[in-house]
Amino acid sequence: MESNNFTAFQKIFDDYVAKYLQKRNDSDYKQNINLKINHSKEVFKHAVKIAKTENLTEKQIFTAGLCGLFHDIGRFYQYYYFNTFKDTENLYHGQIGCDVIDKENFFADLDNDTIILIRKAVYAHGLISIPEKYSEEEKFFSKITRDADKCDIFSIVSKYYKETGPRNISLEYGLSTNPAISENVLKSFLNNFVVSKTDLKTLNDFKLLQISWIYDINFSYSKDYINKNNFLTIILNTITDNENKNKIINHLNNMCFQ
Ligand SMILES: [Fe+2]
Repeated sequence: MESNNFTAFQKIFDDYVAKYLQKRNDSDYKQNINLKINHSKEVFKHAVKIAKTENLTEKQIFTAGLCGLFHDIGRFYQYYYFNTFKDTENLYHGQIGCDVIDKENFFADLDNDTIILIRKAVYAHGLISIPEKYSEEEKFFSKITRDADKCDIFSIVSKYYKETGPRNISLEYGLSTNPAISENVLKSFLNNFVVSKTDLKTLNDFKLLQISWIYDINFSYSKDYINKNNFLTIILNTITDNENKNKIINHLNNMCFQ
């Protein structure tokens, strides 16, 4: 198989997700499955752009693209069987993604090293950090996948927070709209750590988690994309806890993410 032939894998992806789209007919279900389909395709594009900006080889660009396209492949199973995008200790969508890859054998035509890289990136993309035990190459493709994922999530949530239309609980992680920001969440942010999902209690906590991703952006492409689109300001403007908002703004000004 051509090392840079994405078409065959786009078809594999489309066929797999089409089965999930047909499983239920209610509009919430279809909306959320479509959201993940579109997200996967956007993450694919970002991953390829990161790889090209980093001047990688054709084969590496191909691997990065597949990491992006398949990174959330576990989401479809998760949403169909559990009706949520919320991960728990026993149900993490990166692990489900690896199980789906193994079961469906999507990558049967690829060499084993490439399959391992994709699998590892799929597993690591949603963790708070990349496992230390990963090889440098595994870490590298995991970083591309994580950056590409964040680029598109920033875009999705920025649009969503600005909208006045109906709420989508799945995009709010099922969190309370109480305006408070939890102590541990603020503490992590002010100490330059990515906020842990286990600390989330309110929607404003979730917004601060998204802002805290700037501590874990690895490539100039992603940084430029986030700055160019003003995502941080857009998200910040929707945070309703005014007292803490000033602390967050001061901290961001001091760290100069530009
Ligand atoms: Fe994702």
